[in-house]
Amino acid sequence: MSFFASSPAAPPALDLAPGAPLLTLRDVEKTYPVGGSLHYVLRRISLEVRAGDFITIMGPSGAGKSTLLAILGLLDHDWRGEMILAGQPMHAMSPKQRTAFGRQHVGFVFQQYHLLDDLTVAENLDVPLEYRGIRKSERQAMVADALDRFGMVGKKDLFPRQLSGGQQQLVGVARAVIARPALLLADEPTGNLHSAQAREIMQLFQELNRQGTTIVQVTHSEENARAGTRIVTLKDGWMTEGEG
Ligand SMILES: Nc1ncnc2c1ncn2[C@@H]1O[C@H](COP(=O)(O)OP(=O)(O)OP(=O)(O)O)[C@@H](O)[C@H]1O
Ligand SMILES: [Mg+2]
Repeated sequence: MSFFASSPAAPPALDLAPGAPLLTLRDVEKTYPVGGSLHYVLRRISLEVRAGDFITIMGPSGAGKSTLLAILGLLDHDWRGEMILAGQPMHAMSPKQRTAFGRQHVGFVFQQYHLLDDLTVAENLDVPLEYRGIRKSERQAMVADALDRFGMVGKKDLFPRQLSGGQQQLVGVARAVIARPALLLADEPTGNLHSAQAREIMQLFQELNRQGTTIVQVTHSEENARAGTRIVTLKDGWMTEGEG
């Protein structure tokens, strides 16, 4: 299966040699004020992600997995510690700068899909391409290609509320990968999919990974975890390397 065989080439992304440091976290912490004290959701998280890694984050519900992924995806700005992405200190940037950087280089599959309700399927897929400043004619070809590869041509003019949960999840995955981001972050990307579809998504991730996309996924599925090359576990906000 080759999802992008006929895609026009995307503009140059981060060009890092395999194994080069892509993302470094040092002592990242996240807290919420709860009833007059601080509730720690992430505690002193340090992690080195290298270009070409395919990392799986596992751990019980409430362990902080989605919280960590939102920080890696430059979507959450309320945390402490250091984060270097492609040599750039994210902790020293303003939220606006971080968001702009993320839109250029990071694709994100949300646990709850987060499609834009007022946009059709095709328009949702176009959003990341617009962020990347790709020309309209080229964008149209890329959207058509993605719709075809994800088997959604017949759904292109529907709005998210007119799709099943699994179909929305597929659109969410297509939107995350369509601009060929250097870093793909996926939060339970197959949680609502049939097992055969889940396997196809993991095969797509493996193909993208072979072509140079660095991936960090969150999953409860042992089978999905086997698609990756490295497992880290979160428990009560602490991270350990390896399972459990
Ligand atoms: N606004 C908030 N105020 C206080 N605590 C919060 C808030 N948002 C999230 N939390 C807490 O942060 C912790 C981590 O949540 P998170 O969504 O990261 O878990 P998770 O590991 O992704 O779980 P799941 O596997 O169920 O998706 C939870 O204990 C949750 O209660
Ligand atoms: Mg979660």
